[in-house]
Amino acid sequence: MNFIIVVAHQKGGVGKSTIASNLAVDLAKIYDVDVLDLDMQKSLSYFNTLRNDSAKLNIKYAKSFKEVAAIINNNQKLLIIDVGGFDSDLNRAAILGADLVITPVSDSTIELVGLLAFKNIIVDIRKERPELQAHVLLNRLHFNLSTSLTDIRDFISHNSEFKLLDSIIRDRSEFKKSFERGLSVSEYAKDSKAAIEIQELIKEIQNGKDKN
Ligand SMILES: Nc1ncnc2c1ncn2[C@@H]1O[C@H](COP(=O)(O)OP(=O)(O)O)[C@@H](O)[C@H]1O
Ligand SMILES: [Mg+2]
Repeated sequence: MNFIIVVAHQKGGVGKSTIASNLAVDLAKIYDVDVLDLDMQKSLSYFNTLRNDSAKLNIKYAKSFKEVAAIINNNQKLLIIDVGGFDSDLNRAAILGADLVITPVSDSTIELVGLLAFKNIIVDIRKERPELQAHVLLNRLHFNLSTSLTDIRDFISHNSEFKLLDSIIRDRSEFKKSFERGLSVSEYAKDSKAAIEIQELIKEIQNGKDKN
């Protein structure tokens, strides 16, 4: 399968590496998966050192816009890209080549400020790729949802740069515990709610892909 998923946001700490690692590990059980780690912190690479030799992710690296573009142009697999928490040439190249951009955001009003900054990046990239949309994934939602979630929903419905995914990932301890062990939540706790949420997200991605 030739498909490129970029997990991107200019804000750090929103769950990009958490989502990318879960997608990469679980989707690698179904498809041939490559991972491109563009995050300066190399979280996914560290995660991969914790995995068994027989279950390592195939991680690639790039140091320039050209190198990212070359990896994207030569891609024949399902490529999952984890970008850094800031706008750079590398991130731009990744988003330009993406079939699907997933942007995790949480349920605080502060997230709107971050999303506005990211919107400017998407608006800019849309000059080259008019159809580009970032698919916002509500991540790390607390159980007693704050009213600010409505603000985020309103913001997204009024901005064609964004589309809200139906899947929702809640704030669950399994995400941290599994990552620290080099496991996806599905591997760590197969029947947990966290695992079910990731499986729902994967289904939504697969269904969206089939529609295209
Ligand atoms: N759904 C979630 N539930 C609980 N903790 C989460 C969730 N998503 C992310 N986290 C935690 O939030 C922190 C930042 O996540 P990370 O994936 O490293 O963000 P980013 O890659 O965007 O900087 C990590 O400690 C991670 O375990
Ligand atoms: Mg990260």
